[in-house]
Amino acid sequence: MNISKTSSLEQLRAGKTDVWDSGRIKSSESVGIAYGGPKLETRRRYYWKVRVWDTRGRPADSSETAWWEMGLLTPADWKAQWINWKNPEADADRAGVHWIWVAGQDALKVAPKTTAVFRGVVNISEKPREGVLFLAVRGNYIAKVNGREAARKHEWNTFDRQDVTDSLIVGENTIDIKVTAGTPSPFGPSAEAKTVSAALAALVKISLFDGSVQRFGTDGRWEAKLDAESDWQASQVIGDLSYKLLGDPGQMPLPAVDLRREFALAEKIRSARLYVTALGNYRVYLNGSRVGKDVLTPEFTDYRKRVLYQTYDVESLLVKGKNAIGATLADGWYGSGLTWVGMHFFPPPNRFLAQLEIEYVDGRHETIVTDKSWKGAVSPVAHSEIYAGETYDARLEQKGWKETGFDDSHWASATVAEAPAISVSSETTLPAQVVSTLKPQRVSQPAKGTYVFDMGQNMVGWAALKVKGPSGARVRLRFAEILNPDGTLYTENLRNAEARDIYVLKGEGEEQFAPQFTFHGFRYVEVTGYPGAPSPDALIGEVVSSVRGEAVGKLTTSSELINKMWSIGIWGQRGNFLSIPTDCPQRDERLGWMGDAGVFWRTGSYNFDIAAFSQKFVQDIVDAQTPQGAFTNVSPNTLPFRRIGIDEGVVGAPGWGDAGVIVPWTTWVQYGNKDIIERNWDSMQRWMEFIQSRNPGFLRKKGVGPNFADWLAPDQHTDKDLLATAYWALIGDMMSEMAHATGKEADGKRYTELVESIRSAFQKAYIKEDGEVGTGTQTSYVVALYTKMAPKSLEPILVDKLVKDIESRNWHLSTGFLGTPFLLFTLADHGRTDVAYRLLLNDTYPSWGYMLSKGATTWWERWNGDSGDPSMNSYNHYAFGSVIAWVYRYMAGIDTTLGSPGFKKIVVRPHLDPRVTFAKGEYDSIYGKIVTDWKGTAEGPFKIRVTIPANTTADVFLPAATRAQVTEGGKKVEARREGGSLVVSVGSGSYDFAVE
Ligand code: BGC
Repeated sequence: MNISKTSSLEQLRAGKTDVWDSGRIKSSESVGIAYGGPKLETRRRYYWKVRVWDTRGRPADSSETAWWEMGLLTPADWKAQWINWKNPEADADRAGVHWIWVAGQDALKVAPKTTAVFRGVVNISEKPREGVLFLAVRGNYIAKVNGREAARKHEWNTFDRQDVTDSLIVGENTIDIKVTAGTPSPFGPSAEAKTVSAALAALVKISLFDGSVQRFGTDGRWEAKLDAESDWQASQVIGDLSYKLLGDPGQMPLPAVDLRREFALAEKIRSARLYVTALGNYRVYLNGSRVGKDVLTPEFTDYRKRVLYQTYDVESLLVKGKNAIGATLADGWYGSGLTWVGMHFFPPPNRFLAQLEIEYVDGRHETIVTDKSWKGAVSPVAHSEIYAGETYDARLEQKGWKETGFDDSHWASATVAEAPAISVSSETTLPAQVVSTLKPQRVSQPAKGTYVFDMGQNMVGWAALKVKGPSGARVRLRFAEILNPDGTLYTENLRNAEARDIYVLKGEGEEQFAPQFTFHGFRYVEVTGYPGAPSPDALIGEVVSSVRGEAVGKLTTSSELINKMWSIGIWGQRGNFLSIPTDCPQRDERLGWMGDAGVFWRTGSYNFDIAAFSQKFVQDIVDAQTPQGAFTNVSPNTLPFRRIGIDEGVVGAPGWGDAGVIVPWTTWVQYGNKDIIERNWDSMQRWMEFIQSRNPGFLRKKGVGPNFADWLAPDQHTDKDLLATAYWALIGDMMSEMAHATGKEADGKRYTELVESIRSAFQKAYIKEDGEVGTGTQTSYVVALYTKMAPKSLEPILVDKLVKDIESRNWHLSTGFLGTPFLLFTLADHGRTDVAYRLLLNDTYPSWGYMLSKGATTWWERWNGDSGDPSMNSYNHYAFGSVIAWVYRYMAGIDTTLGSPGFKKIVVRPHLDPRVTFAKGEYDSIYGKIVTDWKGTAEGPFKIRVTIPANTTADVFLPAATRAQVTEGGKKVEARREGGSLVVSVGSGSYDFAVE
């Protein structure tokens, strides 16, 4: 093989190489070949091609030429400045708002669960254009405007914004807010406390059509009383919003900002690049056309350390002469309250950065950058947050603002904002886009004027709406995964996530709306406020995902149940792989929970090509690592624990922090990618050292963060330390495998010895002479067997005990997040494929099939999602979907080996059971498409058609006792015996094997 890289296409076509020529390399490796030439230059485009020779030394035609282009490699390449636009109303909004509490009570020492009620009266002289209620509360609250519920949140830390326009009347309006004090946090410094703080800060903001604003903030005019008492009293004013002891709730959610400038281009353009990003989320336009189709850019990273920029080829959008660039800048992940307590993790203000580089036909260059020459104004996106949803007031649209010739004399200048001291790096994976659309299956009307659209599928994205009606009409869209028995939306499991979009009509013919800076996880969309009755095509679902291509893995079997399991997992992954691998897409989390990712990654890597997505997530993991070396529970590290003084809560729990090793390992196994090992080796080693330094006795008891153990297992009795220790051994093995693969022999030896030490400690502590492991739960046996903690001689006894426990539960599993991914592998590896199939094909609780029997269209978070605690009950959580890796590897029989990972060496080894009579698997591996297609049983006859891609080899395992039984294409073949199978080794090609 030979790889040539040149700096121009002409050079390459002429067969010249002026940058790097790998020379002829005698190797059959054809993926992950590292570039070995001179340092690559910023902005430069490189052309390349590959030539291969076959085993007899005959060259094939060179590959087609390809190219890539370097981004902006150093901070000095950026001439653009970070800009923002200061909303003049922001300070005024905050100024009149005070923390208040009940007179005569100490707001800093309130008995837990004390309830206080507050009342404010606002007089309105004319119908407002918009009425908004802002709330910041220490405690839980329910707010009503004229008796109509406006907000309900639980321990939310920052400002909540509610559009209450439709609840307001001309005249006297009553705002009632009930605040219930929380309870002391069970962790951290306040764990011993007997009292908590409780207080209310609120603002009613009325915007009139003439542009004037009326504000009514909490102060002594508001009345308050303890719930039990009857007399209203003037409330006690504690202080303004900066009052330290209650914690500043930060700025109020602000409308998104439109930014623009015009510029002239003197000549015809040869090429143009736009490098662009934001602290916040942006959409950018050139001469009125949107640049690219990406959504929710830039992606979610730890913006305290890194922001990713996008690069677009914009040559076709520019013209000689006058041009206009415009952008909308919104909160996105950067500025939204995140986690179940609504924290702002990243410092305001939102900022925008863009650099447009143009090359004229005559070779001259021009650069247009963000700077103070830009102008800004409030955009029609009145409010947009990740959990809350988006409010868009089409009446505020300014026609032509993205185009040239717009009169922006009434717009104010943008401000140059502080440049963040973070890395501005090129994105490493494709940003999310709308990948498909869904039409509603049904529309129902559970109450007058309330329409519920059923998309037929739990999906992630938003609803794109069509509507016609009078100016100022407000259409509200709310989203939910399931319905109440009366057909109304069930939203309790969304917790603090409002998941609501509001579209305010401009009143000009048919209008269209889809939110730009938020997303929802839902199957049902409730529409209220629609002028007239919406037709069934009034909305469609737009599916948004970072996995943009088709699934690369496919499964079809004789079991409808298994086929459905595969398909709901595809939907779940599409929805949850959105910028980061989220735990769930609907409630007030959507965080990069590491445990979920770790257990699912293998399945995820079979479903879609996530090689690049993995690189990005591993970067997030490494960015989140603590100075002590701990990987975290979520990456990017956005958990509220540290804010409330619980450092341990940041430390990744066993199985969670361990994903910092599991994800790179899986990526290496699946794609043969050694680079992910090399790049992250030091970080992984620091995690291993972190664990070891806290557990010198080789039992993992310390440094386990908020140890989530076998999360959501029906049997909660697994010893936490045992499970933690087994996972330590698991990642120890992975470290030693990765060390050997990259020639780090000394490290490899060290990790092998580590695992040996863990094994002896484990055996002493947890394995009794009679083979009982720990508390005897299924997960105890599964992890002990899977990680080879038990002496070989005892393994059959452990397997028996595991099967006995399964049998005692009438052939049901009892494992949680950490035990489940290994359950079927363990059974099949120890001769109990029959039990593995039995569990896989179950449809009674707890089982995968149970979820399907209850109508699941994506995996549930809990085995008992139909009766589980609503505060923790998502219907789109992929973790238990980790089982599909078993179906790909052990049923379809498409697997690789650690010796030649990335499917360089393929293992075709279907595990058979009479309950499944055929299976077809496809996997588009990095080497090309692998297909297995079998029919029959272990007792025969059995047929399998196999396709093996170029430059790989495969061992095909066939259920045959003698060589005489086996044919390929009707002819006898060479085969060797291994265990109970006959094995045929083949190279690339298609084969038809039969066992008589
Ligand atoms: C998430 C999980 C996560 C867990 C940690 C939950 O809130 O949704 O999937 O792994 O917390 O135990």
